[in-house]
Amino acid sequence: MIRSVVRGFGAALPKRVVTNAEMEGMVETSDEWIVQRTGIKQRYIAGEGETTASLGEAAARAALERAGLTADDIDLVIVATSTPDNTFPATAVNIQHRLGMTKGYAFDVQAVCTGFVYAMATADAHLRAGLAKRALVIGAETFSRILDWNDRTTCVLFGDGAGALVLEAQEGEGTISDRGMLTAHLRSDGSHKDKLYVDGGVSSTGTVGHLRMEGREVFKYAVGMITDVIEAAFEATGTTAETLDWLVPHQANRRIIDGSAKKLGIPSEKVVVTVDMHGNTSAASIPLALSVAAGDGRIKQGDLVMLEAMGGGFTWGALLVRW
Ligand code: ACO
Repeated sequence: MIRSVVRGFGAALPKRVVTNAEMEGMVETSDEWIVQRTGIKQRYIAGEGETTASLGEAAARAALERAGLTADDIDLVIVATSTPDNTFPATAVNIQHRLGMTKGYAFDVQAVCTGFVYAMATADAHLRAGLAKRALVIGAETFSRILDWNDRTTCVLFGDGAGALVLEAQEGEGTISDRGMLTAHLRSDGSHKDKLYVDGGVSSTGTVGHLRMEGREVFKYAVGMITDVIEAAFEATGTTAETLDWLVPHQANRRIIDGSAKKLGIPSEKVVVTVDMHGNTSAASIPLALSVAAGDGRIKQGDLVMLEAMGGGFTWGALLVRW
């Protein structure tokens, strides 16, 4: 049975760090309010010349280096983003070109904060179907470019960045001891559109628009949706909170992360949290968090790692990976 095994990981952040103290100079807010409600202490904001594609390219190069591979070894690039450099061509094709690739294929996946989970599940399906042998799966965002910087209820929450994994098709035994992706559970429900959306678009207004969110409404649904898909992943594989080594959640908000882990009985020592450093980087947050925790040696080869996310749409999903 073919498994999609993680060969490498990498991340990239913009040069500029914006602390909560700096946010206090932009809108009426306080470090105390932001930390208490969200756990965020700082975020990275893209400057001139830094775009979703440039950050994604840098993350991809870091992941290739860690895997001991070059762009020539890759035949599929999937980018999860809601903030593409251009309406088209896809940011994935842009990155494919920046990496010097002239073979294989590349496309974008758009599922907002759940984008990376969707992109991993998509790459896994392509590898298992034999369409490709090695995939770069990238989550890259510049949410700073769609924020309303006068709206304190949203602008303090988000940041920019990118993360990438290299997946390789390898033969496995078909058991949960195999390295690689073990199960994926994806969900969406468009009836929640008005709770979190961008008020512009090519076909509706002809403008880029700004992110709009009813934070309290999103919060109300988040923990229930996240725990539902994680429980589905546990059930499908016969694994449990006890056998899990790491939970790597989408980094939106410390309270959502803690609430989900608590409901599932996953102790906080097993939960990777980077929202304090990065803010909410949407589709980039999971590969950024993975790069931090695998980079500092917490996540080791053979560990059982649960990835989960929930975001605009709503979309939500969970993946179980043997690292
Ligand atoms: N600084 C200071 N005060 C603020 C700020 C701010 N940045 N933003 C809002 N306030 C005020 C409000 O105006 C309100 O004041 P009022 O009581 O005088 O009207 C008060 O703080 C409370 O506002 P609420 O919106 O009710 O605050 P809440 O406790 O719900 O926290 C938050 C807001 C952090 C957005 C929370 O609802 C949340 O985390 N929601 C989840 C949303 C999320 O994480 N979305 C990310 C995208 S989706 C995803 O990735 C899961």
